[in-house]
Amino acid sequence: MSNIVIVGTQWGDEGKGKIVDLLAEYADIVVRFQGGNNAGHTMVVNGKQFIFHLIPSGILQKKTCIIGNGVVVDPEVLLEELDRLDEKGIHVGPDELQISEKAHVVMPYHKAIDHAREKKKGDKKIGTTGRGIGPSYEDKATRRGIRFIDLIDPDVFREKVNANLEEKNFYLKNYLSSETLNPEKIIEQYNKIAKRLESHITNISVVINRAIKEGKKILFEGAQGTHLDIDHGTYPYVTSSNTIAGNACCGAGIGPKEITGVLGVAKAYTTRVGLGPFPTELFDEIGDSIQKKGSEFGATTGRKRRCGWLDTVLLKNAVYLNGLTGLVITKLDILDGLESIKICTGYEYKGEALNDFPASLKVLAECKPIYETLPGWPEDITNIREMEDLPQNTKNYLNRISEMTETSIHIVSVGPARDETIVLKNPFL
Ligand code: GDP
Ligand code: IMO
Ligand code: MG
Repeated sequence: MSNIVIVGTQWGDEGKGKIVDLLAEYADIVVRFQGGNNAGHTMVVNGKQFIFHLIPSGILQKKTCIIGNGVVVDPEVLLEELDRLDEKGIHVGPDELQISEKAHVVMPYHKAIDHAREKKKGDKKIGTTGRGIGPSYEDKATRRGIRFIDLIDPDVFREKVNANLEEKNFYLKNYLSSETLNPEKIIEQYNKIAKRLESHITNISVVINRAIKEGKKILFEGAQGTHLDIDHGTYPYVTSSNTIAGNACCGAGIGPKEITGVLGVAKAYTTRVGLGPFPTELFDEIGDSIQKKGSEFGATTGRKRRCGWLDTVLLKNAVYLNGLTGLVITKLDILDGLESIKICTGYEYKGEALNDFPASLKVLAECKPIYETLPGWPEDITNIREMEDLPQNTKNYLNRISEMTETSIHIVSVGPARDETIVLKNPFL
């Protein structure tokens, strides 16, 4: 039995898409279990770049892909992704993509509220992706959400849209000073969408549990990152779902004993898109050069990603929050040519070392990173495929990460393409 969860260890965009695409070759089913199209997962295959926001990153390996009940799905975006794949000659039918009947639908009013709220908040905004993710999870928690099973029942759908809009339109108009939405227009548009997606909608927990019983291998694809987790992240500068590995069980409807391994993906440095604390953020030319060399722009919103040194306080947190069985280090090539590289080994708060990541943003704002400096390497490592061929200083950097986090490194990524990878331990073999 081999069922593996892939999660981000930092603030998202660690390169999860590339790693899921790579490992999907050895899996039978790939499942997204949380988040929505706030995610942007990139893979480069045969020189072509693909970015998926909702479709699991196993689709190019022609594996059964599943969107779990824990995901909030904007059906318009999903259809666009399906159409784009179709144009490229990749037909995704109900055998290739299944959507949980219990997954919640991101509605036009969720997007409108997300935008209007951020605008109203001004400087105090979160810096969301504006995709309606927060308002959608909010409705799920307050039991006003619309699930895919409701979307495909025209009477239930109509009733729910009308009931929701009564309240949302009042809120949009009177509190957010924003445009109201017309229920009939939404109902008409979504009835058409429902017809197109109907054949993909199913009870995915039954499908996944049956596959596990048959000995099939499942890869669970996380979105966002550990420090964007609604409970464990830098609240309130977080997303609205649990991003950590435990949520693979809730978001797909399986028991925890089925998970056999959890890989945490970490960039060789740190990035963050959107607002919120970032202790190792760089405001100098090194930060700028990492941003440029790493093409650090959000795959969803195109915003510049903030860049900084690797923070092992974050990684150590990620190790226990997710129960990591291994680490994947990505974008190591971006550090090529730096004279020296810093690693944050802890935080200093009011002259004392902090042992744990603080929950208080006030405390975090006053934390100073404690750095260790390691020599860099002048070589271009993009073409290296074996660990022993890496420059000694690169190996020293990796060893130090492994030592600090007490976790072994299973995969090292040295370029965006599928094959620009050093695999030390494949979790499926
Ligand atoms: P995700 O959200 O975790 O899937 O990550 P994103 O796709 O948002 O961002 C990662 C970016 O880094 C993408 O543009 C990838 O193509 C790219 N990438 C992934 N791994 C590597 C690597 O090892 N080296 C380089 N140079 N780029 C990489
Ligand atoms: P992937 O899966 C990076 C960030 C947003 C914002 C915060 C809340 O590609 O790693 P939201 O729209 O979720 O309410 O925004 O979370 N965020 C991400 N940052 N990568 C992501 O996904 C993200 N998804 C959300 O920038 O700071
Ligand atoms: Mg991304």
